[in-house]
Amino acid sequence: QSLADYNTFGFDAKADLFVELNSINEFQSLLISSEWKENKHLILGGGSNILLTDDFHGLVISNRISGIEIIDENESSIVVKCGGGENWHQFVLYSLKNNWGGLENLSLIPGTVGAAPMQNIGAYGVEIKDRFQSLEAVNIETGEVEYFKAEECRFGYRESIFKHDLKGQYLISSVSFQLDKPGYHQLNLDYGIIKNILSERNIVKPSIQDVSNAVIEIRQSKLPDPAEIGNSGSFFKNPIVHAVQFDRLKSEFPEIPSYELQDGRIKLAAGWLIEKAGWKGHQENGVGVHHKQALVLVNYGQGKGKDILTLAKKIQDSIRLKFGIELSPEVNFI
Ligand code: EPU
Repeated sequence: QSLADYNTFGFDAKADLFVELNSINEFQSLLISSEWKENKHLILGGGSNILLTDDFHGLVISNRISGIEIIDENESSIVVKCGGGENWHQFVLYSLKNNWGGLENLSLIPGTVGAAPMQNIGAYGVEIKDRFQSLEAVNIETGEVEYFKAEECRFGYRESIFKHDLKGQYLISSVSFQLDKPGYHQLNLDYGIIKNILSERNIVKPSIQDVSNAVIEIRQSKLPDPAEIGNSGSFFKNPIVHAVQFDRLKSEFPEIPSYELQDGRIKLAAGWLIEKAGWKGHQENGVGVHHKQALVLVNYGQGKGKDILTLAKKIQDSIRLKFGIELSPEVNFI
């Protein structure tokens, strides 16, 4: 089975065995099958945050568990539970249609709902941890359904326990979010670029739909659509440095974009570093660095996962040499 349609880079890696799951029961039956016991496995969400560096000699599982339901409600908010296999952006659109506030800044992020907590997806000042209520996951050792509260997921910047201590141990079957009812929602307009778009359109009292439209416009203007050019969004995380190192960088590169964190450390823009090192628009072996957003590595159609890996290493070396900074990938290598 080709995995080309199951990873947003569009790499034509092959899986020996492939199965789509539509329910927890199906997964529990799979867990006791010989297919499962005799092979190594890989659980896929939307495939928007993985790099398939080679064929996968084992069983690939595509989580298609669907369904959206309200599980709790009061005057000001609702808790909505969404199947892990639902498409993230479709779920955001559904929340907007119902006038539930909280996810509008996270519009148009590729991938599935079940994969979203894995790396605590975030954009334009909001992360899913801000709206996360709990998640339901199946333990692959025991087949039992377990529940995780926010603290237990250990969310951080593009991080959670599911990328570390519990890596590969659970299938996330659903995620529940707490969202605001109309009249009880505070928009997050911290990002100047969102405010600029709203004022260009003379929108004085923006709705969640207006904010979503602004986010969609910004994303479409600089991020390549995976349906047209294979990519997995930001390839690296934005690096975080100590004040001493930042001061040194700032004296050499006065225009360096930066953002001070609560603990006094400084977050830098990996896209800026990569552009400054001369990589923006670079192409080799059918892959390259996007010409509008240097943090996004792209597959022009002819490349292989290995070529992205080679390119990523070259970029890391060059950023280490020029700035003394270690870039860590955001994408999971398989
Ligand atoms: N920049 C450059 N050159 C570039 C790209 C960026 O100079 O080629 C500069 C920009 O001018 C800006 C700064 O870098 O000053 C930040 O750029 P941008 O606002 O585009 O955001 P980012 O830091 O590159 C992060 C997230 C994105 C998220 C945006 C908006 C990470 C790794 N990436 O990107 O998330 O959409 O902020 O909040 O944190 C993703 O994770 O896949 C992703 C797309």
